[in-house]
Amino acid sequence: MEKTKNFYFDISSYYSIEHHIKVFSNVLKKEGIKGLFKRAKKHLYFKYKGVDFSPENIFDLEVKGENKENASTYHAVLEKPFLEILQRIKDYENNITKGVFLDYGSGKGFSLYMAYKFGFKEVIGVEFAPKLYKISIDNLKKLNVKNFKIYLEDASYFKPPKNTSLIFFYNPFNEEIMQKVYENIINQTFENRVYIAYHYPICKDVFENSKKIEFLEEVTCTFSNEITRIYRLKN
Ligand SMILES: C[S@@+](CC[C@H](N)C(=O)[O-])C[C@H]1O[C@@H](n2cnc3c(N)ncnc32)[C@H](O)[C@@H]1O
Repeated sequence: MEKTKNFYFDISSYYSIEHHIKVFSNVLKKEGIKGLFKRAKKHLYFKYKGVDFSPENIFDLEVKGENKENASTYHAVLEKPFLEILQRIKDYENNITKGVFLDYGSGKGFSLYMAYKFGFKEVIGVEFAPKLYKISIDNLKKLNVKNFKIYLEDASYFKPPKNTSLIFFYNPFNEEIMQKVYENIINQTFENRVYIAYHYPICKDVFENSKKIEFLEEVTCTFSNEITRIYRLKN
């Protein structure tokens, strides 16, 4: 399978000592000693709970369906940028957490856990790799997340629930799949105003060429400089 540079995340260096040093100095620079302690505490908490959010290479995973070559590899969204995105959207819609948070390509469930902690009443994930699906259920149970559902399914066949209020994408797949997902979204009749946060927005044209979707803003996360584009479905 050919790797497209801008699409697949290269996680090969994630276990190297150089990577850990880079992360360590970035946290120290941006958040100081307090930030480092906070991180260490979280790390220990996850260890104590026995949860696993480590990256996985898509090339090593079995998946449901035919779309493995259209998929990005797994690694969890970073906590800080993710919380910044949620807060930014809450500034638009204070009641956003009353609806469902939906993550397309939910991996091991880190965004679902964080969204639940942020206050979403219900969190839903769609993931097509059985190994990640199983780990995500295990993780969320161990972390006492009460109201979650995870579907073992190819995202292109998934119909979003009517009570969705925020749809999250962290560069899960390429344009071919994103186009199908987009069609399923715009063909649903939602109960709430629906926001879309597209983190690492490689296929943004799918949304930006649409008359049914309004672009709100681009957020550059202060911690990582990662980009997220925020949209809202037109009524
Ligand atoms: C970059 S990871 C994002 C993980 C998670 N959203 C998070 O933020 O922690 C992308 C995920 O999308 C999943 N994925 C890719 N293509 C998919 C598809 N067609 N259907 C369902 N999941 C898919 C991958 O298996 C991987 O877990």
